[in-house]
Formats: sequence, structure tokens, C-alpha cells
Amino acid sequence: MKALVLSGGSGTRLRPFSYSMPKQLIPVVNKPVLEHVLDNITALGVTDIGIIVGERADEIRDALGDGAQLGARLTYIHQDAPLGLAHCVRLARTFLGDDDFIMYLGDNMLPGGIKDIAARFTAERPAAQVVVHQVPDPRAFGVAELAADDDTVVRLVEKPEHPGSDLALIGVYLFTPAIHEAVAAIEPSPRGELEITDAIQWLVTHGAEVKAARYTGYWKDTGRAQDVLECNRRLLAELTTHIAGDVDATSELIGPVVIGTGARIVRSRITGPVVIGAGTLIEDSHIGPDTSIGDNCVLRASRLVDSIVMNGASIVQIPGLTGSLIGRAATIGPSDHDQAHHRLVVGDHTHVEVAA
Ligand code: G1P
Repeated sequence: MKALVLSGGSGTRLRPFSYSMPKQLIPVVNKPVLEHVLDNITALGVTDIGIIVGERADEIRDALGDGAQLGARLTYIHQDAPLGLAHCVRLARTFLGDDDFIMYLGDNMLPGGIKDIAARFTAERPAAQVVVHQVPDPRAFGVAELAADDDTVVRLVEKPEHPGSDLALIGVYLFTPAIHEAVAAIEPSPRGELEITDAIQWLVTHGAEVKAARYTGYWKDTGRAQDVLECNRRLLAELTTHIAGDVDATSELIGPVVIGTGARIVRSRITGPVVIGAGTLIEDSHIGPDTSIGDNCVLRASRLVDSIVMNGASIVQIPGLTGSLIGRAATIGPSDHDQAHHRLVVGDHTHVEVAA
């Protein structure tokens, strides 16, 4: 079996981050979402992985290389414009050959893993198997309707106004080569994309067997900042303590805390779950719970809760930051000259909330 991971897409809902980095590289517990995805795939013993990349191809290549460090062999496949998930399958035709494959959206987190789901596909080998999850409002997703007595898919609709079930497609699909005829046959949807949902519906219409596997664990499409923070909290809840850096005698660690190599904790209190990256300095601060801080950051005289701070950021004298997502090498600190006013240099589509 091969895998096809989709990492194109512009990520408009994750602005301003998606202006400067591919949304799939946003860190959750200090590891890019895309690496969490690849871990789930290699855990199945699948190592031959194609990655569809768009305009941010170079950064994804820089982060993952040839995949050797992740125990995978990566083949990058370029998509010039985001023309849909079924278009990605068309582009990957040569890479995929006549193998079965798992297709996985590079911004979907399924921390429970998909081993049972993949094993079921291998055992039953329907033409296609979709992965579904019950959601309260499925209108923003592809929706599957199943037969009354088993998990056979009878209808699939992309983002229906009036959903026929509460089972959303959650970005993981298992296919036999039968999908190639389907993706070749369909036309673009009203949003101008070749929808994988339509291709799978084409299989159903033409009498092929399509099954649904239910994923019951925690799932998140990390499309928006609040999704990334929520996912970070969920994964931090599994954290086990590991201290590689230095903690001075006046600092206190409470609960599960990971401190990276070369990090220093000085006169501070860390209330886990908290992960602190390599080379980061925390001084006179109170961090946590539910917080991830990347590599080579500086936090001084600050209080930070329920947040993600990316590599190289600096936060100085900020006593109450919460629910925040701070980008790479961002600096937040006191004014040099004017103690009475806020001074902001923020990028396009940045979101700032200031205490009244
Ligand atoms: C895509 C699929 C949709 C699926 C969703 C999962 O939607 O088209 O069927 O439910 O991913 O995240 P998009 O993110 O392109 O709107």
C-alpha cells in the first residue's frame, strides 16, 4: 500500500500564519501537524508516501526532506492551483500506479490512529472506504449516508445544505485503483474543484462497493487558530515528563512538563502540561497549563496560559497572555518610550484582543 498526503491549499482560515508558512507546518505540541499525519501513516507500515504540495512546496520540503528521519520515502508532487482533492489523485496517477493507497488530508488530526480502520480495509477490500465521524453540524463537510443494516455507503454529498446524516468525512480515505476511473469521469463542483466526494459517489452510482469506517476518537480539522489550540490542549493531556534542560533551584515544576535540550528555567513556575523547546529561556515567569513553547524562545517576567508560541519568539513583561498563538520570531514586550499607550506592528489579518 502507498499513501498520498495532501498539503497544498492556501489556508485562508489560518491567516496570518498561512501568509508565512504552510498551514500543515503549524506546530501542535511542538511538532508540525503534517508530521503527526505522517506518523499515523508510517504506524501502518506504509512508507512510500506521495505529498501533494502547492505554492509553499519549498518550506514543506525543507521541513521533511526525503522523509528518512520519519522512516518514510517521500515523493513530492506539485499542484499548480488548488483544484480539488480528486485533482490531486489525478496528478498522483504515475506515483500511485496500480497500488491500493490511503489518502490523508495534511491538516487533519486523528491522534487515536487509524490502524483498525486500515486493517479493516485490507481485510474487506471494498473499492473505497471512507472514514466518518459523528459531528453535531456536518454542513461544512462531505456527508455519508449509510445503509440501514451495515456500513455500506449509499450516498455521499459534499457540504450539503440539508445533511442526510450526521456522519462527516474526516479527511482519510482508503482506495483501490478503481478510484482512478472515477476521478477521470467527474466534472468540477460549483466551487470549481474536482471533489473526491463526487468521485466516490461516482463509484457508488456505478455499483462499486464503498464502505464507511467510523472513527470514534478525537478528531480535528486544524483549519482555524482555535482548532489548533484545542488540539494542542488535547494532545498535551497525554504528556509525560521529560527534563533535558536546566531548571534552577528556585523554579518549580508541577504536573507533566517536557523541557528540551539546552532550555533554561530560571526563577519560574511551570504548571503542566507544558512543553518547552530546545534552547528556550524562561525567566521570572509563570507558564501553563496547556502551553507549548517552541525552540529558542525567550519568556521573561510573563504569565502565559493555554497558548502556543512558535520558534524564536520573545515575550517580555506580559503578565496575562491566554489562548494565544504567537508566530515565529514574533516579539511582544513593553514600550521603550511610552508607558501609557500600546504600540502594535501586526501583519495582515492578524487578530489582537486587548484587556480593557
Ligand atoms: C474537504 C472535503 C470534505 C471533508 C473535509 C474534511 O473539505 O472536501 O468532504 O469533509 O475536507 O476536513 P475542504 O477542507 O476542502 O473544504
